[in-house]
Amino acid sequence: MTDINTNALSDSLLSVLRRRPARFHSLEALAKVMKVEKADLLFAIDLLRQTGYEIKPDSQGRYAFISAPDNLLAIEITNDLKTVRIGKTVYAYKSVQSTNTVAARLAGVNAPEGTVVIAETQTKGRGRLGRSWFSLEEKGIYLSIIIYPDIDPAKTPGISIMTALSLADTIQSYDSLDVGIKWPNDCLINGRKVAGILTELSAEVGKVHHVIVGIGINANHRRQDFPPDIAKIATSLRAEMKEPVRRVEFVQRFLKSFESDYRLFQKSGLKPLRKRILKYSVLLGKKVKIDLKGSIVTGTAVDIDENGNLVLDTTEGLRPFNAGEVSILRRM
Ligand code: BTN
Repeated sequence: MTDINTNALSDSLLSVLRRRPARFHSLEALAKVMKVEKADLLFAIDLLRQTGYEIKPDSQGRYAFISAPDNLLAIEITNDLKTVRIGKTVYAYKSVQSTNTVAARLAGVNAPEGTVVIAETQTKGRGRLGRSWFSLEEKGIYLSIIIYPDIDPAKTPGISIMTALSLADTIQSYDSLDVGIKWPNDCLINGRKVAGILTELSAEVGKVHHVIVGIGINANHRRQDFPPDIAKIATSLRAEMKEPVRRVEFVQRFLKSFESDYRLFQKSGLKPLRKRILKYSVLLGKKVKIDLKGSIVTGTAVDIDENGNLVLDTTEGLRPFNAGEVSILRRM
């Protein structure tokens, strides 16, 4: 596990400089305001620069904040984040095995609700159904959110589709892209997968202990960055928007959207979100097959119900499914 967090002094120096971007401050004035030695400030400035911040000196040895890197640093994600709880605590890493694993460990020691674990890459990123998740360094967004929903465990499948909705809205807020949700956990643009969600929970009968919502987003990948098998079905925000996306800003917009959907979900389940989910759904009205670990059911997708189940109109009538791998059939 490799850490990329700055230290407490560099964080507070950054917030002082950032209050007035491009304005030069003398080391004497900064040392006085922050009640530290000038040498410590120089060390902090070096640390910030190594982390990618542009901090410029003028001819009189005064310093100004010019720009921040688009690195997934805790201090960048929390800076001016417009949420109440989600993302208020962030653990950021350069590399981890899986952000979901780190988050589960933190949930085990009661990390606050809304804690985010985020990484520039994962060495064992996990996808659904035992697959791995391609976690290209510094191009994607790999993050996990810890929540403690006070709901019946039977309702937890709704969390994946709720998250897909928050993601779809975030993507839509950038551009008039053709964004879709493929039940139960994929976000698509123009029919190709741009993001996936892996929700893992710890629960007992009638009680959820914690839920880890893991989200992988293909952000700034170029088409040629994907291995051939993934390239056929995947896309990225950059490929669709035709320009790189600032990942920190994307994460902040997403956390805000997640917080507001999660608040509704906790109060009333998927009921207040269903209409918006259905609007994005790429399966509705389509003939599909669902693979239930070996047995295959075919039918027309007609609904996503209030428990997050996909409802198929089959030869045996309407049937709800709470899991499975779905593909659209051209003909039945
Ligand atoms: C899927 O579509 O199969 C789900 C992919 C989920 C990937 C994310 S990346 C962050 C988090 N950590 C993981 O190991 N997996 C999820």
